[in-house]
Amino acid sequence: MDDDLTMIRAAGLLAAVERVAVLTGAGVSKESGVPTFRDALDGLWSKYNPQDLATPMAFKANPKLVWDWYQYRRDLVKNAQPNPGHFALAALQKRFKFFSLITQNVDDLHEQAGSTDVIHLHGNIARTKCFFNCQGDPTFVDLTTIQYDPEDTPPKCPHCGRWLRPDVVWFHEILPKHELELATSASQSCEVMIVIGTSGLVEPAASLPKLAKKSGATVIEVNPDYSMITSIADVKLAGASGVMLPQLIEAMA
Ligand code: OAD
Repeated sequence: MDDDLTMIRAAGLLAAVERVAVLTGAGVSKESGVPTFRDALDGLWSKYNPQDLATPMAFKANPKLVWDWYQYRRDLVKNAQPNPGHFALAALQKRFKFFSLITQNVDDLHEQAGSTDVIHLHGNIARTKCFFNCQGDPTFVDLTTIQYDPEDTPPKCPHCGRWLRPDVVWFHEILPKHELELATSASQSCEVMIVIGTSGLVEPAASLPKLAKKSGATVIEVNPDYSMITSIADVKLAGASGVMLPQLIEAMA
C-alpha cells in the first residue's frame, strides 16, 4: 500500500477509538543515540554477550564488570535527549482519555518528552537497589547520597554493606508485578495498540500485542524492519519512529 495511504489508515483507526495502548522498545530511543540490543550492526547484543552482563549469575560471577558496563550505559542515557518520536507520543497521550504507554526501555526519555504514568516493564537504569533487597523488595538506594570509590565497584549497600546493583530486569528475573499487571490490563482493554521499535523477542512483553489482538484490538506497528510483531500487525508504518510518529500526529490533525 502507498505510504501516505497507510499513514491515513493508521490515523483513521486512532480517530475512531477512545482507548489506546502503546508498547515501545529500544528502537524508539535509537534516534536519541541509545543503541538497540539486536540491530545487526550496532545493537548491544551484537558486541556483548547478555549471559556475561545481564543475568544475576553474571553479576555474582563478576560484579565489577557488570556494574561498570551498566555505569557506561547509564552515562550514555544521561546525556541522551528525547527525539521527535518521544515527543509525538507525549502529544498523542493528550488526545486520549484512556492512554497507556508501556515501555521496555530503562531510560526516561518518554518522561523527559512529557509522557506521564509510563509503565516501565524492565526497570530504570538511573535507579539503584540492594542486590539482596535487604530492607524488602525493592530496597532502593539513592546513589548520590553515598560515597564510593569508582575503582571499587559495585558500591556497597548502606544498610547491609553488600553489593548494590542497577534497577533493571535481567534475564532469568521476573518483571515488577504491579507494572506487569497494569500492562496486561491496558493490553486487554485497548482498542488500538501501537507497537514501536521492538523486535518482539523478549517475553512477557512480546505477548502483550498478541493479547491486545486476541482481545479485539487493532495493532499498528512502527518499525523500519520486520519483527516478531509484523505478522499480527493490521497496519505497518515501515520507518523510523522519529519520522513516522510525527507524521502520524500530523495525519490525525
Ligand atoms: P531490540 O534491540 O530487540 O529491537 C529493536 C527494534 O527496534 C528492532 O526491531 C529494530 O528493527 C527496531 N528499530 C531500529 N531502529 C528503529 C527506529 N529508528 N525506529 C523504530 N524502530 C527501530 O530491542 P527490544 O525489542 O526493546 O531487556 O528488546 C527487548 C529487551 O531485550 C530489552 O528491553 C532488553 C533486551 O535484552 C532488558 O534489558 C531486560
